[in-house]
Amino acid sequence: MDMTSSNTARLHDRAIALLRKNRRTKDEYQYTVPSPDSYPYQWMWDSCFHAIVLAYFEIADAKKELESLCAKQFGNGLIPHIIYWDGPKKGVIDFEWGKSGTSSITQPPMLAYAAWHIYQRDHDRAFLERIYPKLYHFHNYLLTDRDPRRNFLVSVINPDESGEDDSPRFDRAVRLPPQHTLEENLARRLDLIETNKSCNFDAPFCVKNHFWVKDVPFNAILVRNLGVMGDIAEELERMDEAFYFRRLQLQVAEAMRDRMHSNGLFWSLAGEEYEKIYVKTWAIFAPLFAGILSKSEAHDLVALHLHDDESFNAPFSVPTVARHEPSYNPDGFWRGPVWTASNWFIFKGLLDYGFEDEAARIRDHSIALIEQSGFRERFNPETGAGIGAHEFTWGTLTIDMLEDTF
Ligand code: GLC
Repeated sequence: MDMTSSNTARLHDRAIALLRKNRRTKDEYQYTVPSPDSYPYQWMWDSCFHAIVLAYFEIADAKKELESLCAKQFGNGLIPHIIYWDGPKKGVIDFEWGKSGTSSITQPPMLAYAAWHIYQRDHDRAFLERIYPKLYHFHNYLLTDRDPRRNFLVSVINPDESGEDDSPRFDRAVRLPPQHTLEENLARRLDLIETNKSCNFDAPFCVKNHFWVKDVPFNAILVRNLGVMGDIAEELERMDEAFYFRRLQLQVAEAMRDRMHSNGLFWSLAGEEYEKIYVKTWAIFAPLFAGILSKSEAHDLVALHLHDDESFNAPFSVPTVARHEPSYNPDGFWRGPVWTASNWFIFKGLLDYGFEDEAARIRDHSIALIEQSGFRERFNPETGAGIGAHEFTWGTLTIDMLEDTF
């Protein structure tokens, strides 16, 4: 697709208008809802995406977004994935988490990346100093409660923590076949919340007996963010902490290779036995974002999987599940459709490895989907049709893709 400068300007205008429309305030806090009807609260990784985009237009709002997100950090360091600033709305994800005002689980750790991205733009040291302790405790929580034996891989305790609620990577762990309904999937995830509540959300002693998955994207995102934590600590002249985070970055990267790698790909792991989950999803590209592949591994990944029609080379790329998987459903929920965030991670990883043509194609497909179907939650990779939530903010990540000049 040829993006003329007037097309680009229009996309910028539409993106900022959407982020402003979805902006909400509560007392001194300010955040952006991912979609006014379907997702009317603050969500964790969504807020990181919003902050990344807002940093280009309205940097003070980008900071408020992250600071509001951190405002409800638990005593143990966990940052909850949903904040119900005005209480839950009846019938809209009003799950009973055993907590008032927040959920009890987290989401992929993109916060350090988003904070550092903001800091790159205005070098506001006071902001970095304010947010750093929150980031520090959050990462320490993940690396202890979610990795009690110090194996350097962190576990998610509910599929929703991956940000890919119904992904087929979790089918076996929630005891569902490759084809099932949304309702069946939700019922299993709600059961899990009940179990987690009965465990008092104690991950190392109880929760891990029920759902304990070391997910590839979560750990890949962690690797990248631990590197960023090293950069932030160094910038704040906390050299021992910079060393600590950089060493952890290497340790998680090595553990991913030791435990997750087989047949040239990285696979998520189930349970304490680290059983590989051989379901091919976009997760196979997440290690690019972590920077843990060699050049030749990255080359094979692109040639054999990204370009393969049976796998990920769809009319609108990149499907979240390989087209040959029995679970592939182009209209499903994280079971095939294109989501702008997974495209963004793949785009970033490809650029880091010098695959400019492939990255440009993903950026252009992401933009074409919005031009064709609007800011929708997800898109059918075969037809480009929009599915799910309306006025969904993730499409604004295309602005960040456009900012990467190459
Ligand atoms: C869905 C997505 C999740 C996202 C949330 C709000 O639950 O699976 O990743 O954070 O919606 O947009």
